[in-house]
Amino acid sequence: MLLQRDAQGQPIAIRREDYAAPAFWIDTVDLTFDLDPAKTRVLNRMQLRRNPEVPAQPLRLDGDELNLARVLVNGQGASFRMEGDQLVIDGLPDAFELELFTTCCPIKNTKLMGLFVSEDTFFTQCEAEGFRRITYFLDRPDVMAMYTVTLRASKAAYPVLLSNGNLVDQGELPEGRHFAKWVDPFKKPSYLFALVAGKLVAREQRIKARSGKEHLLQVYVRAGDLDKTEHAMNSLVNSVLWDEARFGLPLDLDRFMIVATSDFNMGAMENKGLNIFNTKYVLANQATATDADYSNIESVVGHEYFHNWSGDRVTCRDWFQLSLKEGLTVFRDQEFSQDLCADASARAVKRIEDVRVLRTAQFPEDAGPMAHPVRPDSYIEISNFYTVTIYEKGAEVVRMMQTLVGRKGFEKGITLYFERHDGQAVTCDDFAQAIADANPDSELARLLPQFKRWYSQAGTPRLAAHGVYDAQNRSYTLSVVQSCPPTPGQQTKEPFVIPLNIGLLDAATGRELPMQLEGESDVARGTRTIVLSRAGEQITFVGLDAEPVPSILRGFSAPVILDFAYTDAQLLTLLANDPDPFNRWEAGQRLGLCAALQAIAAHATDTTPVLNDAYLDAMRGVLRHPQLDAAFKELVLTLPSETYIAEQLDVVDPQRVHLVREAMRAQLATALFADWEQAYEDNKDTGAYTPDPTSSGRRALAGMALNFLCLAARASGDTVWPGKTLQRFKDAGNMTDRFNALNALVSSGHTLAAQALARFHAMFKDEALVIDKWFSLQAGASDRGGDILPLVKQLMKHPDFSLKNPNRARSVIFSYCSGNPGAFHRADAAGYVFWSERVIELDAINPQVAARLARALDRWSKLAEPYRSAAREAIARVAAKPDLSKDTHEVVTRALAGN
Ligand code: TRP
Ligand code: ZN
Repeated sequence: MLLQRDAQGQPIAIRREDYAAPAFWIDTVDLTFDLDPAKTRVLNRMQLRRNPEVPAQPLRLDGDELNLARVLVNGQGASFRMEGDQLVIDGLPDAFELELFTTCCPIKNTKLMGLFVSEDTFFTQCEAEGFRRITYFLDRPDVMAMYTVTLRASKAAYPVLLSNGNLVDQGELPEGRHFAKWVDPFKKPSYLFALVAGKLVAREQRIKARSGKEHLLQVYVRAGDLDKTEHAMNSLVNSVLWDEARFGLPLDLDRFMIVATSDFNMGAMENKGLNIFNTKYVLANQATATDADYSNIESVVGHEYFHNWSGDRVTCRDWFQLSLKEGLTVFRDQEFSQDLCADASARAVKRIEDVRVLRTAQFPEDAGPMAHPVRPDSYIEISNFYTVTIYEKGAEVVRMMQTLVGRKGFEKGITLYFERHDGQAVTCDDFAQAIADANPDSELARLLPQFKRWYSQAGTPRLAAHGVYDAQNRSYTLSVVQSCPPTPGQQTKEPFVIPLNIGLLDAATGRELPMQLEGESDVARGTRTIVLSRAGEQITFVGLDAEPVPSILRGFSAPVILDFAYTDAQLLTLLANDPDPFNRWEAGQRLGLCAALQAIAAHATDTTPVLNDAYLDAMRGVLRHPQLDAAFKELVLTLPSETYIAEQLDVVDPQRVHLVREAMRAQLATALFADWEQAYEDNKDTGAYTPDPTSSGRRALAGMALNFLCLAARASGDTVWPGKTLQRFKDAGNMTDRFNALNALVSSGHTLAAQALARFHAMFKDEALVIDKWFSLQAGASDRGGDILPLVKQLMKHPDFSLKNPNRARSVIFSYCSGNPGAFHRADAAGYVFWSERVIELDAINPQVAARLARALDRWSKLAEPYRSAAREAIARVAAKPDLSKDTHEVVTRALAGN
């Protein structure tokens, strides 16, 4: 067994290849809590037995910040010793009862791991290694036990007492106390344990499953928030119905609970039958939440619910397998949101949004010092590996499997996976094997060992493609060479299995061409999936009268970078005609990106136009298009982000990137002024508020139009549109319209912004999630002459600011350091100094949040001077701090080692 620090006190890495089965199993756990914020008593009675397959060794239980008062083996006092944080007991029989009595201090728990207090309510967070902060335990996911939990607390202070499973008993105790006893009918790993105790109210709904069985669904919140739970409840009902309809996976509990807390490190947690959520992903009404909030709530409620099977019924053998549950569950929540869409356009919009997240967040991770495979080989702190690679790239790996076996084949694979592994803790290999075994004739089954390189090799593969038309043979040959850059610890890579979805368009008419591969007799229409598996391949299409425009990587069929030297004319053809909406959008992005990269390379001044007339005409064409949906138009008209543009460069001058992108925005604003006016008029009224894709798409486009109109007004000195925008801000019937108007004033730097911001704060001073928006909008606003950093420092002195609340810290500090590159990367290094101070300050409070912030400088080695040296110095300053948490230590040392 590994200790977590070496002789010098340095954290040491845990390696996947060192996995060993546990020396003991825990069959049952009986926990009794006497809840008290300052001193909670935990009585833990467990039945253990030796694992006969492992050589005899002492029992080593994990603990963290616990006070141990008693250890009994079979009711007798037992001798034990402490080795670091571990409780070690020798000479145990093969089977025995172990009773432990410990106390902990929830009120001082600022890490928000284990048992903590938020607004006078007790919550737990145990994934990944928080249960050891509640009691000594074999705190690893392959030890699965049956839990019985008794909660005791003051009835007045904590009227609601919740834990996993079914409520089997409750009643009064002396001195104004009461108790509740819960039994979870399923065995589970310790990371899925949860309890909640406090003053909460619930929205309830009963639903009937296909089997006719009734279930009780509950959403618990604080008393004032009940009017914001309808959407979360609807999302939960939809999730239950969808998992049963799409994958045949039913709800397996009589009662399923969601509880919201405003102090939470991440989005939400899938504890069996008792999901705990960040309020951000539960609370919504039209006055306080935007369309984006509504859509995130639907995704996160779905995600946690789907974990009930993919995570809880079948869990991970060890934390290296994290993507087994997270990649699969993100894939499932993405499919859920798509399936809830009424039409193909809305589905495509969801796909584009998902790919945008992957490319702006995961691709940089895969190219930086924290790059790791979807199934990592080692870690120092597992909390650092809840990453976009594990989640979003992991979901793409699952999606490729679906592409290779087909939708029906994938459903068969999922069925086999749950049949085989129900109640087990398994590996990514087990998952891939089940999907392949259910589809023995598929390309996945044929190429399985090679396909699994997606789990073992880090880095984003690149496809270099080029096409040659042969007029003589009326054929078109696409050559594709794949490569993958080195990543930390992996210098060379073997070829991946890449499903490549392709279509061909007629260059003259833009119409889709029939496709016939050389040597094939049948002609196919629409999209074909070509499965690449070698380093270089050639694909020849025959029967073509002219050189076609290839539409490659349709629907983003693999998480790769496609290099193809498209001409502007080809991209304009795709943008105008591609029946694949993803590639239609992508063509516009490529055009915008090329313009940006050229302007950055040309060292032009900010008055030089970046965008040519062909691009502007094409964008006008999209904006005015009679058939395209507003949501899709808004995506096409959104320029590639500064982060995405920076990723394409070898050396990044963030100020230059910012300047060029701002110039492009200004040009879009003025050149399309009349079109923005029209788009605003056409989309500004969406009637009674509903968060459906069609009306939210129209609000998004109207909001974008307002933004550009205010930006154009800034250049021209016009006051009409800013005035109208302020009026819109005041009159808005929902948060989306109100916030978009506020954003238009703030981001154009208009003088009216100040009064709108003040009014917004006054209106929503008691709505924490809205105040987060108020902070984050200001900290993320476009920088003009270095004004944002002083503002951020001012905001941190605001009475509503708190470093201890993760949502609030994120709304100010992360919005600035991670979300506002133009303001953060200052030539005077003041942004980096601010960052290092906040990382150190946060690390003492909450290491998980600090380590996330630490990643804001991941890509420092790509920066141009003077940014590069200044950033490095700031990271080194953090790394030199003694007593850094394992979390932050791992991030900054990897950043420095990277280059
Ligand atoms: N498993 C959770 C999810 O993906 C996320 C999670 C992991 C988490 N560790 C956490 C949430 C710590 C809060 C705190 O749904
Ligand atoms: Zn998850």
